[in-house]
Amino acid sequence: MVGMWDDGRLCHGGDYNPEQWPPATWREDVDLMRRARINLVTVGVFAWSRLEPAPGRYDFDWLDEALDLLHDSGIRVALATPTASPPPWFSLAHPDALPVTADGVRLHHGSRDTYCAAAPSYRAAARSIAATLAARYAHHPAVALWHVHNEYGTTCHCPHTETAFRRWLIDRHGDLDTLNTAWATSFWSQHYADWAYVSTPRATQYHANPGHLLDFRRFWSDTLLAAYTEQRDLLKAANPTIPVTTNYVLGDWVPVDHARWATEVDLVAIDHYPSAVDGGAEEQTALAADLARGWARHGHHRRAHPTTPDRPATPATWLLMESAASQIHTTGRSHTKEPGRTARHSLSHIARGSLGAMFFQWRAPAGGAERFHSALVPHTGPDSRTFRESVRLGDTLARLAEVTAGEVTADIALAWDAASSWALRHPGMPSTLLDGHAELAAAHRALWRAGYACDVIVPGDPLDPYRLLVLPALYLADDTTVDWVRTHVDAGGHLLVSYLSGVADPHARIHLGGYPGAYRDLLGLRVEEFHPLAADEQVLLSGGGTGHIWSETVHPHGADTVCTYVGGVLDGRPAVTRHRAGTGTGTTWYLSTRPDDNTYRRLITEAARTAGAHPVHPDAPPGVEAIRRAHPQASWLFLLNHTDRPQRVPTDGVDLLTGTPTDGQTTLPAGGTAVIRERLR
Ligand code: GLA
Repeated sequence: MVGMWDDGRLCHGGDYNPEQWPPATWREDVDLMRRARINLVTVGVFAWSRLEPAPGRYDFDWLDEALDLLHDSGIRVALATPTASPPPWFSLAHPDALPVTADGVRLHHGSRDTYCAAAPSYRAAARSIAATLAARYAHHPAVALWHVHNEYGTTCHCPHTETAFRRWLIDRHGDLDTLNTAWATSFWSQHYADWAYVSTPRATQYHANPGHLLDFRRFWSDTLLAAYTEQRDLLKAANPTIPVTTNYVLGDWVPVDHARWATEVDLVAIDHYPSAVDGGAEEQTALAADLARGWARHGHHRRAHPTTPDRPATPATWLLMESAASQIHTTGRSHTKEPGRTARHSLSHIARGSLGAMFFQWRAPAGGAERFHSALVPHTGPDSRTFRESVRLGDTLARLAEVTAGEVTADIALAWDAASSWALRHPGMPSTLLDGHAELAAAHRALWRAGYACDVIVPGDPLDPYRLLVLPALYLADDTTVDWVRTHVDAGGHLLVSYLSGVADPHARIHLGGYPGAYRDLLGLRVEEFHPLAADEQVLLSGGGTGHIWSETVHPHGADTVCTYVGGVLDGRPAVTRHRAGTGTGTTWYLSTRPDDNTYRRLITEAARTAGAHPVHPDAPPGVEAIRRAHPQASWLFLLNHTDRPQRVPTDGVDLLTGTPTDGQTTLPAGGTAVIRERLR
């Protein structure tokens, strides 16, 4: 990382919107920012209509003044390009650039993100405002980072998109025979005899073609990526020393392959808003952070070694760009975070490699659609619990700067890719309960609860550090992925595969001859039939526990049965198996159902133990999360007490938050945290 970005501090800050307030408030803002040790703010994300109120007429005075004020106050700026929200004049002048839904409805100005990323006029206007900002601010001393756009994720079905989709399909498939084979278009009379016959997958009578849907998502991810890279290139041309990023929005509705984007950003940045309000929020936080670290490393590997990725020597860094200062959104209402919870979420991200903790937003607005979204300075003002907690967090982060030298290491990897998740969502799948992200989350949760660190990696990433590789419903498998998994097992690595992994090829066509086609021999079994379960249904498993969502007729061909189904059509048949495969010494495990959380935890712990993996802190009490960042000369142990009682943890080192030696143990207050610089033996 280059320029003033890398100044050794952990980042603390968030989205700052001076354009929403009079200058007198700005001065109060910077005073308060200094109190909270804010050192990075994102400015201008949705400011296009204030920067360019009419076509080609610019107003930069307010931004000049705000950037100077921030710089004079020692606060760095992530300057955004405002292209996620075109101004009213743009939509009026270019109605063809307004997005069209899959139902054919054209949306209108009035919210945000209302544009088509394939529309030439939108792309030209976006390049123009980005270039204008670059020309004016690329050498402004406050600007430490470019923040392109905001949360790329919207989609469109307009004629511009259709034309671009056909071009993309020609590049991908070359000729129509190949496309017809890939999409299996002989089914339901979908054979295409001319490229002009191919449209985007609009709303249709019954299920759409799975290959068509999958390619559309891939195409759209590439289209959004092109919209990003053309802005990035303009910004880089103006000053190559300022890193460029964009903030990833997470969720399986997002048509963006974040791993693929990771090679194009200087810094992986994620926004994270847990949807759970119970302990699930902490589990979601850990997973989001592990995903981000995985994407950052993937980008790092790929940039260094485009064809044969290797482990780079330096930590791959990433940043939590947005999170909630207080309320967590949940269905139908918001939930105010309990005291200390925001800090625990922030430290969970930092423990897993984030360069800091950033928030949406600095000051809660008096109006606008998100007026009730939480903020570091809430409507109440600075005399509030939320602001006092941000001051405390700023102080904490200032004491933790040294941890950025450390890297998380794990014995266990979960392999995940966006396309598999997209494909599992196809309505023609045997169950509407299939959800690739939920499957990843279930495996991750089992490891999290058992206290194991894990990496979330992309198929093809280096496997050498891992003792256990987990494929959680990794539905699509091409030959390269199968070889990658096989190489791991042949080298003595252990493998845990959950149902539906390796069932289909990259076009979502089924590998024939019995499921899971790609991994049958590695697992020593053949699955003959699926028996999906209803949402409120469960199957009993021998040895205790229940299976959910899915069950299968499994025929072992060498694999041993770990537990069977009890009762029902599968009574006495294998539910979970283990096998000694390949030329190595590794064990391969197969889960033909989704075990309940306790059973999953028990099974994955057994697989981890068999593989020789170790929990981060074997003596951490239940409810205390332990994460370690380390390098050969130092090690930092993060402890997060998610319980409502004080907890004692054996430790040996110096507590960075108090500066005192730990004297054999650390007592964490209810909901509290500690970071220990460990004594190295
Ligand atoms: C996203 C956006 C922000 C804001 C928050 C609300 O992260 O980037 O502009 O809308 O969601 O949670």
